[in-house]
Amino acid sequence: MEARDREGWGTRSGFILAAIGSAVGLGNMWRFPYVTAENGGAAFVFFYILMVLLVGVPVMLAEFTIGRRTRLSPIGAMLKAGGRAWMPLGYLFVATGFLILSYYSVIAGWTMRYTLEAALGGFSTTPAEYFSAASEGTSAVIYHLAFMGITIAVVAGGIKMGIERASLVLMPLLFLLVMGLAIWAIFLPGAEAGYSFYLRPNPQRLFSLETLGAAAGQAFFSLSLGMGAMLTYASYLSKQEDLPSAGVTIAGSDFLVAFLAGMVVFPVIFALGLSDEIGESTIGALFISLPRAFTAMGDGGRIIGLIFFSALFVGALTSGISLLEVVVSSLIDTWQLPRATAALGAGLVITLIGVPSAYSTNVLAIFDQVAGNLFLVFGAFALTIFVGWRMDYPVTELQQGFRSEGLLRGWHFTLKFFVPIILAVVLYQVGKDTTLVLYQVVKDILALVF
Ligand code: TRP
Repeated sequence: MEARDREGWGTRSGFILAAIGSAVGLGNMWRFPYVTAENGGAAFVFFYILMVLLVGVPVMLAEFTIGRRTRLSPIGAMLKAGGRAWMPLGYLFVATGFLILSYYSVIAGWTMRYTLEAALGGFSTTPAEYFSAASEGTSAVIYHLAFMGITIAVVAGGIKMGIERASLVLMPLLFLLVMGLAIWAIFLPGAEAGYSFYLRPNPQRLFSLETLGAAAGQAFFSLSLGMGAMLTYASYLSKQEDLPSAGVTIAGSDFLVAFLAGMVVFPVIFALGLSDEIGESTIGALFISLPRAFTAMGDGGRIIGLIFFSALFVGALTSGISLLEVVVSSLIDTWQLPRATAALGAGLVITLIGVPSAYSTNVLAIFDQVAGNLFLVFGAFALTIFVGWRMDYPVTELQQGFRSEGLLRGWHFTLKFFVPIILAVVLYQVGKDTTLVLYQVVKDILALVF
């Protein structure tokens, strides 16, 4: 497709809201609290902030640079900017999009089910049993299908009429919902213990390689980095856009929502004495302990729960959209497919790949570890090396729309030296974690067979 008839964003805020929509999702309101809990609370939050600022924002700008320079989706963009040698990275991005959306949609399906449950009947009084029934099996498949259906419909609508319009309505709504919840939580009796776990660092837990790895993985997942989603969104931009400011706005908003989600989750959990549950956090933790807490609060709790899960669903939708758009835009650019065909075709394949995750949360956890953790960190690492060492004039690209050349030079220097070193350490850690997970899987399978 010629660059000149390529689609584009209608407004500047349209792009920023859509990118915030991509970033803000399950990663903020579900993964962030549970990873924070797993890693001991406040100390992790501190590391996470450092990661977002020192690694997340630079990598986001790296994706922006490639996207806007080439005005192509990942596969074509890597080919155009880097030549044949870098094209496989584009393929890896698209593959990662397939894999992440396949299980992301399953979890998003749970949020749909919980939203409906809160609206229609109230939460179950036996949330653990309810969660095992809701998270695995035919009903999980049905909600997964429903979520994919909505996502496909929006992406088929295109950049302006689909993605931008949806984000313009949904993102402000989500902000208001989460903000309202955080204010409400202040008045919960017994909330202090939650705030203290969340906000007061325990010096003994300040540094470990595990915490660093977890913080980096969470930052990439939450900021939608490492698989070309931000690259793709930036490819629909005009040359006047001030990308560094956009990057800071997006990362800041993303952190704000995650932070506010923690300001809801921790007070609620601690106020109701459920902190043990979150201590040994797993994928299901929030889906079990929050409904338990909401039920204990009576009718008011049901409304609060309804708001919480609606916000979660809204966030998941705008993120799912961006994951599908990476795949769809590649099909459009590389194989000249019509948008609707591409959205439907890719959507169906992704839906199928997700079915095993809808039958077993163990499978889902493996997908999350491999694609949502390892592939993202690796993708970000490769991207950093590319923009830092291989790409022609990345600074010049960002100068269009941004004046301070000094800051941009600093950014490029960071990408050359600082970010790759951090990411190499993180990659080592995440690689180790992933090997352990896969080793366990192989052992389990062998035990089943023999
Ligand atoms: N950032 C989203 C979240 O926090 C998930 C997401 C959307 C994503 N697009 C992505 C993650 C691209 C990694 C890469 O829920």
